[in-house]
Amino acid sequence: MLFKQIKLYGDNFSYIIADETLHEAAVVDVSFNADEIQRVLLAEGLKLKYIISTHGHSDHTAGNYELKTALGGEIVAHAASRIRADQKVEDGDVLCVGAVKVRVIYTPGHTSDGICLLVDGKKLLTGDTLFVGECGRTDLPGGDSRKLYESLFGKLLNLGDDVEVYPGHDYGDKPNSTIGDQKQTNYVLEPRSVDEFVEFMSLP
Ligand SMILES: [Fe+2]
Repeated sequence: MLFKQIKLYGDNFSYIIADETLHEAAVVDVSFNADEIQRVLLAEGLKLKYIISTHGHSDHTAGNYELKTALGGEIVAHAASRIRADQKVEDGDVLCVGAVKVRVIYTPGHTSDGICLLVDGKKLLTGDTLFVGECGRTDLPGGDSRKLYESLFGKLLNLGDDVEVYPGHDYGDKPNSTIGDQKQTNYVLEPRSVDEFVEFMSLP
């Protein structure tokens, strides 16, 4: 599997996931990196199958149509998303990129259309749900701290400690981490009841 984390402008991360043998690729959160993504896909001789958005915020979806126009591919987003997508997905859906399996985990809270993507059971792309050392804010339209609690504590933390975490922004002291490391070091993930978490998220 080819897996690349890309950050050229600002702090948004984009990702390329590909099966180099079958020459098929997916891009997650094109953001402001469409030119670099296009360069990599062409250099590696990869056909673009999916353009996936972890949620509808414009800093993640910017570049979707530029890339689709240049290289084709289906734009994919969660069923609750308002972005114009060719394919809408639900929790548990699996997208195949060559032989690489990308499982959709519905993680509302930062937005109502948030998804995380588990690649071959090993690499978790967390969008704005979980950052290295932080989590996504819940005070924007569609944000919901109770839902974020369930997404983090009910879903993501139940994945194995060895699962690697690749966030949507470079907000931490390193560009990626693991679930186990985040359990130990991320203050957001300290044990709390849902009510305590909601209060914690409302603090200035
Ligand atoms: Fe966001």
